[in-house]
Amino acid sequence: MKSVHWAIVGTGEIAGEFVQALQSMPDEATRYVIVSRNRERAEAFAREHGFARGESDLGRVLEDDALDAVYVATPHPAHFGIAKQCLEAGKAVLCEKPVTLNAKQARELVDTAREHRTLFMEAMKTPFQPAIRRMLEIVQSGIIGPVRHLEANFCFHGGNDPSSRWLNPELGGGALLDVGIYPLSLAYVLLGKPLHLHHHAHLGSTGVDERNALLLTYGNGASASLTSGVRGGDDMSIRVACADGQIELLDLVRWDPQKLRWRRYHEDWQEESHPTAAHPLTYEAREVHRCLAEGKAESETVPLVQTLTVMEQMDAIRQAWGLVYPNE
Ligand SMILES: NC(=O)c1ccc[n+]([C@@H]2O[C@H](COP(=O)([O-])OP(=O)(O)OC[C@H]3O[C@@H](n4cnc5c(N)ncnc54)[C@H](OP(=O)(O)O)[C@@H]3O)[C@@H](O)[C@H]2O)c1
Repeated sequence: MKSVHWAIVGTGEIAGEFVQALQSMPDEATRYVIVSRNRERAEAFAREHGFARGESDLGRVLEDDALDAVYVATPHPAHFGIAKQCLEAGKAVLCEKPVTLNAKQARELVDTAREHRTLFMEAMKTPFQPAIRRMLEIVQSGIIGPVRHLEANFCFHGGNDPSSRWLNPELGGGALLDVGIYPLSLAYVLLGKPLHLHHHAHLGSTGVDERNALLLTYGNGASASLTSGVRGGDDMSIRVACADGQIELLDLVRWDPQKLRWRRYHEDWQEESHPTAAHPLTYEAREVHRCLAEGKAESETVPLVQTLTVMEQMDAIRQAWGLVYPNE
């Protein structure tokens, strides 16, 4: 397989982590270009992390035929414009979550990707994690019956700085878009589209949701209770109750579960270890490599219909809260 030539847009926290993922697969991935708003910063980041070069002009970078894929690692409000430019240039795009601020923008990106027959994928790590995959395998095997209830919580304390990415509306702050997207996406994978979606938010002094709680109900009588938070909370957990048994994900480090335990009711728990790879972002990079090698414009593991459906749900919830971002 040809080594995929990657560009990364952004030089922040997750960009640094993605670099580590690429470094761990030197035969498959070429660290090609770093793009920053500031050229000196791009060059310094490129030197530090073994990239061929650093640039500040994305348009120029996209003219390079040797470039295969772009990882968009900027704050949410900047995803749309950057991803659109890359897709129009025919480059594969792995875009950090949420792919955009709202469903209208997400639909436009999906249309652009389809028009240009280009791979577009949300960087949603959950479906690749070995423990999550095992959980889905157990559910799909039918051994514990159909899902009756999902409880999934992604709450952490990101600090009190109103200018931080988590609290600043200019940077798309708020729990729902930043971390609530994980439980919502998991609920979609396990249960599909809900019939009803009830919600509650605590909006903080910057106007974004610092914490929220969602209750989803489904036509078959199933339900999901999901919480997310970026301030004043610390709860990472996933539990699935099925008709004949249950599963709990264990040791969730930044929502990367390392183990699970499951049982049929009234039987003993079985604990299994399913550690994530040395770097959890390796999976999504590999998925891009696989899709490119197979000429696919969409990943079956993170399908665009899931990305769009979850964005639509988040739009509806935010509309009810009156939470509109300045850049929308
Ligand atoms: N998958 C995951 O596990 C995970 C974890 C954390 C974050 N994320 C996602 O990754 C994205 C970035 O998060 P992060 O924590 O890496 O953020 P960050 O540390 O603030 O870095 C973002 C980078 O984007 C660039 N940038 C471009 N436009 C910007 C703007 N208008 N304001 C500020 N920076 C801008 C900056 O690099 P230059 O100044 O060099 O241009 C900055 O360093 C978010 O969408 C987030 O949801 C994903």
